Amino acid sequence: LPHQNFLQCLSLHSHDSSSISKLIFTRTNSSYESVLDSTLWNLRFTTTNTPKPLVIVTPTQISHIQATIHCSKKHGLQTRTRSGGHDYEGLSSVAKVPFVIIDLSKFRSVDVDVENRVAWVQSGATLGEIYYRIAEKSSTLAFPAAVFHTIGIGGHISGGGFGLLLRKYGTAGDNVVDAQFIDVNGRVLNRKSMGEDLFWAIRGGGGGSFGIVLAWKLSLVPIPANVTVCSVTRIRELNAAELVNRWQYIAHTLPDEVYSTVLLTPVNSTQPGTRTVLAIFNSLFLGTVNEFLPLMEQRFPELGLTRQNCSEMSYIQAIMVNNGMPNQPLEILLNGTSRVPIVSPSYKVKSDYVKKPIPLTGLNGFFSQLTDEAAAMTTIILVPYGGIMDRIPENATPFPHRAGNLYKIFYDVGWQATDNINTQKYLDWARKAYTYMTPFVSKSPREAYINFRDLDIGTNNIGYTSYAQASVWGYKYFKGNFKKLALVKTMIDPENFFKHEQSIPLL
Ligand code: FDA
Repeated sequence: LPHQNFLQCLSLHSHDSSSISKLIFTRTNSSYESVLDSTLWNLRFTTTNTPKPLVIVTPTQISHIQATIHCSKKHGLQTRTRSGGHDYEGLSSVAKVPFVIIDLSKFRSVDVDVENRVAWVQSGATLGEIYYRIAEKSSTLAFPAAVFHTIGIGGHISGGGFGLLLRKYGTAGDNVVDAQFIDVNGRVLNRKSMGEDLFWAIRGGGGGSFGIVLAWKLSLVPIPANVTVCSVTRIRELNAAELVNRWQYIAHTLPDEVYSTVLLTPVNSTQPGTRTVLAIFNSLFLGTVNEFLPLMEQRFPELGLTRQNCSEMSYIQAIMVNNGMPNQPLEILLNGTSRVPIVSPSYKVKSDYVKKPIPLTGLNGFFSQLTDEAAAMTTIILVPYGGIMDRIPENATPFPHRAGNLYKIFYDVGWQATDNINTQKYLDWARKAYTYMTPFVSKSPREAYINFRDLDIGTNNIGYTSYAQASVWGYKYFKGNFKKLALVKTMIDPENFFKHEQSIPLL
C-alpha cells in the first residue's frame, strides 16, 4: 500500500516519531472522519462518493511539514494543503488521485504588534481569530479581508481576499509585508530569501501551486473607532430592480470610505406559492452617521436612507453584524468551527465582473431567474469596485481585477446537505444563470475571482497540462499576470509537485 510506505517514511524522517504519530490520521483511525470534516465547509463534498485522503497530517512543527512533503514526493502521493478549508470546490480536502492532506489547523498563532501596526499570523488562523486579537488590542486598527469569520487566512490571502475595506485599502494580498514559506525541497523562506517574484505570486496567485505558506506578516490599517452600518431592503414589486439599476451608476463612484453592496435573494411573495426577489442594500461607512446621511442624500437619494436604517458601532461589531451574528458574544470569533448562520450548508459559486451597467431589462430577466425553485437558497452579492481598486495597477499582485470594473457579481447557489442527491439540479441552475449573464459581463476573457473557485471555467488534466490549456481558466482569473505566475511556478516547483485542478502550470 503506498501509504504504508509513506507512513514508514514519515516516522523515519521525523525527529520525534512518537509525537508525529499522534498527528497522523488514516482511515482506520477513529477520529479520521471528524478530523476530515472539521473544516470541510462545503457539505457538497461530504457524501460517501467523495474521494477521501489516504492520510491526514496535522503538523505542529515545521519539521512535520518538511517530512510530509518529502515522503509524499518519494511515494508518489499528491498533497493538499488545508488552512481554513473554505475552498469552494473543496480542493483542500478532495482529490481524484491518492493524496495526503496537510491540515494546518494547529498552525494558528496570531501575534498583533499595535505599535508597529503589523501582525504575524500563521496560516491555520481564522479571520475571526485575527479580527478578535486585533480588536482586543486596538479599536482603530483592522486588517482588510473577508467578513466570514471561519475562513482561513492561509487560503484567503493566497487568492487575494476582500471584504468591507476593499474600496479603502484593497485586497488582503495588497496588505501583506512578509511571509514564511516552505518550498518543495523543505526550505523555509521569507520575503528576502524567496525574492520579490515569489512573494508577488503567493499574494493572490491561488493556493496550492507554489508551496506552503506557514505564516503571513500583515500590515494593519487605520479605521475610526466607530463606523456606520446601514441596511435598506426593497422588494421587487417596489422597484428593487430600478434601484439596483441606479446603484450600478453610483456605488463605484462614492468616496473610498463607503462600501455599499447589494444582496439579492428570492423570498416568498404575498401571493401564496409564488416567489419574488428581495434586494438588500448594505453599506459600511468609515465615519459617523451624521456625515454619511447627507452624503448619501446627495449622491444616492433614490435609496431613501434614513437614520433608522443606520447604526454606529465598532468595526469588530460591524464584522459581527455582517456575519449575521449581531447579538452573539465576540468570543464566538474564536470558535472556528461555529457555522456562520447566513451561509447555506452545500453550495456552488461563480463570479463575474461588470464593466458597463446592465440594462434594466437584463436585471429584470435575472430577477425572474431567481424565482426559479432551484434558486430558493441562492444569494447574489454585488460588490462595488472603484476607490483604491482603480488606483492599484493590474500587475501589483496576481489579482488583476482593478480599474475599469463597476462591480463584481458573486453567485452563491445553496442547498441543504440532505438534498445533495439533487446537486445536479442546483449546478444546472447556476450554469443557466451564468449563461444568461453572458452579454452583460466582462468578455475576452470573462473574468473570474480565484477565491470564488469555479471548476466550470476550465481545469487541468490529472496528468500533464500544457500552459496553453491552463490559460483557458488562467486568463480568466489572472489576465496578463498568468504568464508571470507560470514563470514563478517553473522556478520554485519545476517538477510540478504542488498541483491540483487549477494549479498554475509550468511554462
Ligand atoms: P482552504 O484551506 O480550502 O484553501 C484554499 C486553497 O488554498 C486550496 O487550494 C488550498 O490547498 C490552498 N491553501 C490553503 N492553505 C494554504 C497555505 N497555507 N499555503 C498554500 N496554499 C494553501 N473570499 C473573499 O475574498 N471574500 C469573501 O467575502 C469571501 N466569503 C466567503 C464566504 C464563505 C462562506 C466561504 C466558504 C468562502 C468565502 N470566500 C471569500 C472565499 C475564501 O476566501 C476562499 O475560499 C479561501 O481560499 C479560503 O481560504 P481557506 O484557508 O479557508 O481555504
